[in-house]
Amino acid sequence: MTEADDEAAAALDEFVAEGQITSVLSIIKTGKEASAYLCRAHPSLGAKYAVAKVYFGRKHRNFANDATYAGGRSIMQAIPGQVGRALKNKSEAGRKFQSALWVDREFETLFTLRDAGLDVPDVYACTEAAVLMEYVGDGSVAAPQLQHADLDPAEAEATWARLLWNIEEMLRLDVVHGDLSAYNVLAWKGRTVLIDFPQAVDPRFSDAARDLLERDIRNLGRYFERFGIDADATRRANDLWWRWKRGRP
Ligand SMILES: Nc1ncnc2c1ncn2[C@@H]1O[C@H](COP(=O)(O)OP(=O)(O)OP(=O)(O)O)[C@@H](O)[C@H]1O
Ligand SMILES: [Mg+2]
Repeated sequence: MTEADDEAAAALDEFVAEGQITSVLSIIKTGKEASAYLCRAHPSLGAKYAVAKVYFGRKHRNFANDATYAGGRSIMQAIPGQVGRALKNKSEAGRKFQSALWVDREFETLFTLRDAGLDVPDVYACTEAAVLMEYVGDGSVAAPQLQHADLDPAEAEATWARLLWNIEEMLRLDVVHGDLSAYNVLAWKGRTVLIDFPQAVDPRFSDAARDLLERDIRNLGRYFERFGIDADATRRANDLWWRWKRGRP
């Protein structure tokens, strides 16, 4: 086992110790900053399976993509003192702290959006290093990313409309995803599920939010071009942005 495996095992053990899962069945995918594991849920969770998304806490994560914003600046620059220095230096303490921030942001965002009825996985628990959430898929196959899903034109129209509705509702709840694309959407039996929220920004406090909103719409729209759908990202983002601004006290 590598050091990364040891860390992941320790993070997964916490969910076992807390009685949320009974075992880990397989790894679904290793991404840039985390791995997703398929777990057997404890009966108390009310589901058969769960996904544990375990963040790489130490030397294994790609920091090039750190985009947690505070007031429009990277959190790396925004935090003063010892913690700020640790983050900048990418020391082990800094990496763990960053990882805990991402877990927090992902858990909190999933919780808020799910509570409001948006299309995100239900979220069960979190620890310092991992988030435990609803598994989208069945026992033998995890839901494909939209990028790899095989939609017919009518399904594509419906999915695009549903995604735009989610983007608008998220904004109403002061959330801009910030890394949306057909890779961070799952398509499962007519369901459309948005995932991967650690970098989500709050437009009330982030100067980057307006541009991220437009980029999210543009990146998602790329997938729908093949169906002749025009994302019209700049106009749409402007429209949503001004409606959001006007709706604010
Ligand atoms: N709740 C879920 N149900 C089923 N599969 C999931 C779930 N969450 C994540 N996955 C799978 O794990 C992959 C990685 O998850 P996610 O995008 O949240 O993490 P990531 O580390 O940011 O990955 P990447 O760098 O690939 O974007 C997803 O693309 C999807 O295939
Ligand atoms: Mg992802």
